Amino acid sequence: MSFRLFEGKEHADIYQKYRFDPPDEVKSIILSYLDKKKGKPHVLAVDLGCGTGQNTRVLAPHFQEVVGIDVSEAQLAVARRVPGSPNITYRASPAEDLPFEDGSVDLVTAASAAHWFNADAFLKEAERVLKPRGCIALLGYSTTTCELHCNNGTGDLTEVLTEVWDCLMPYGNKQVEVSNSMLQEILEAIRFPEKERVENIAVKTRLSVCDFLGYVQSFSMYQAYSKADPEAAKTMIQRIQQRFLEMGVSSAEKELEIWQKYFCVLASKPE
Ligand SMILES: C[S@@+](CC[C@H](N)C(=O)[O-])C[C@H]1O[C@@H](n2cnc3c(N)ncnc32)[C@H](O)[C@@H]1O
Repeated sequence: MSFRLFEGKEHADIYQKYRFDPPDEVKSIILSYLDKKKGKPHVLAVDLGCGTGQNTRVLAPHFQEVVGIDVSEAQLAVARRVPGSPNITYRASPAEDLPFEDGSVDLVTAASAAHWFNADAFLKEAERVLKPRGCIALLGYSTTTCELHCNNGTGDLTEVLTEVWDCLMPYGNKQVEVSNSMLQEILEAIRFPEKERVENIAVKTRLSVCDFLGYVQSFSMYQAYSKADPEAAKTMIQRIQQRFLEMGVSSAEKELEIWQKYFCVLASKPE
């Protein structure tokens, strides 16, 4: 079964506009791991649950070919519209049934996405399509460890972020918990003997108040909230704006900094 929470066109547009690219720090960890375990050449990378292609585009300069895979046509349509390199293609397919030959892929990634897959089926497919010594890299961050700051003297705004999560959590599901556990159950289910999780990769991203509000609306939990009670969801966004004002953040253009701790589950297929 696939979770179909990213199907709306409007959601896909919000996603492309407001979600962050995977940070360089995580990209370097993944490429070093691939170099160490498999070595060059880096021919084919497959980015599962690619959404609007943030991670797919980040990988493109490092591979001869990168294929972004997603079940959502709406997300893929937006991904195809974003200028990228000619070595990227996007294909509609579930992560559990991949359109690649056995032993043909150097790297399988999933950025903020693996928690949506059927773990056993997707891992079996990853095992099948990877070349010997090819690698899996599943990256993401736990929403529970994010902090929010402002450099104008107002300082720590994390309590606003906590209020946002408190509001949205009832619209989460088991998959959000899997993500917040840093994919513990997927790590355990990987059958390759060589596997590890790199944790606490600290990343600070600057964004305006406006962009922060867009980022909140990109979450599947917000989309579920908005579907269940559109007025309440809108009111929540207005309430965040009001909270920022109360805390001395005086305009929507003010710059905030979100502090995230990324993790990356890495594994390499035996020879
Ligand atoms: C949170 S988004 C992540 C998008 C992007 N990788 C990023 O870093 O922002 C999760 C994506 O996984 C896709 N997805 C969910 N279940 C899937 C499945 N079983 N197979 C392929 N894609 C799936 C959704 O359609 C969605 O685009």
